[in-house]
Amino acid sequence: MSGAPTEEMAQAAAILASGGLVAFPTETVYGLGADAENPAAVARIYAAKGRPSDHPVIVHLAPGADLAYWADDIPEQARQLAAAFWPGPLTLILKRAARIPDAVSGGQDTVGLRCPSHPVAVALLRAFKGGRGGVAAPSANKFGNVSPTTAQHVCDEFGAPGAGALLGAVLDGGQSEVGIESTIVDLSRLATHGPVLLRPGHISADDIAVVIGQRPGTPDAAAPRASGTLDAHYAPHTPVAMQHGDELAGTLNQLLNDGRRVALIHYSDMPPASASVRLPDAPDGYAHALYAALRTMDQLGAELILVETPPSGAQWLGVNDRLRRAAFGSAGILQRFLDA
Ligand code: TXA
Ligand code: MG
Repeated sequence: MSGAPTEEMAQAAAILASGGLVAFPTETVYGLGADAENPAAVARIYAAKGRPSDHPVIVHLAPGADLAYWADDIPEQARQLAAAFWPGPLTLILKRAARIPDAVSGGQDTVGLRCPSHPVAVALLRAFKGGRGGVAAPSANKFGNVSPTTAQHVCDEFGAPGAGALLGAVLDGGQSEVGIESTIVDLSRLATHGPVLLRPGHISADDIAVVIGQRPGTPDAAAPRASGTLDAHYAPHTPVAMQHGDELAGTLNQLLNDGRRVALIHYSDMPPASASVRLPDAPDGYAHALYAALRTMDQLGAELILVETPPSGAQWLGVNDRLRRAAFGSAGILQRFLDA
């Protein structure tokens, strides 16, 4: 894809260049973008999201971008992972270059970099500053909410774009293919900590190990803060509880007998609930559809969203991570409903 940007893309790039916000699709979830080198623009992201200012945002780069412009002390492993997985759903945490504003790094000495593969994201990044810019973008949702996987989800969060609106533009690229946020691997403290997996995703620890010859470890208490790793995050407004399939049918029957309105998200055969969404029983298909299902169920006015706990295999790690946060306090929530 080369040549002149389309009118829409040129306009979106101009909004970014003038300090405005542009929501755009990526293969993982939709992002809320601003010029990464403009602290006032980045501050607008935090204000729009209601996000605490000490949470860093990822900088999105066009394919072929110069890593050394954005990061210092770049280890060989970063080059290897970028070569293997970019453009794609992997974020690398590296030592930040001095030009990275504090607003982007949340005051930490590192920066998260990612080159997305969605063609609309790539076109936007190529149109912005001739492909040499960086677009700082968290997921395009209010802080703590479920990430958006469609342009409509973004508008549900922030209102439609236009004059006087929070967002200058919302680019529509259909439903995000991967459906959960990028894998984040920290390479900024290799000498002391080795590579660390800060957030599981579509690209697994094993995928990373194949490329760099070392399996990323799990974060210790001193690991950098990641808002997506807070206990309660990615959560609908309706309480969410999880249970394994063998117990779930009984729970469902009891709650429905009690006259409760229960929305069910499942992947194996289950009795009918007040409303149900059946997701694919394979991890990629499940991740693709999960956030849209949570949003749909959240809008039904149910008292409880009951989720059948997915399988526990390595391929399901990203999905289970997001669901565990959406259903934070699950056991207590369920008990409250069963005891009522
Ligand atoms: O798939 C994704 O990564 C999406 C799309 C839009 O690219 N973005 C995304 O951004 O999920 P956000 O801000 O919702 O989540 C990014 C996570 C946060 O938990 C943030 O704390 C962490 O990445 N993060 C960003 N920069 C970091 C840094 N320098 N050190 C540690 N964690 C960082
Ligand atoms: Mg987010």
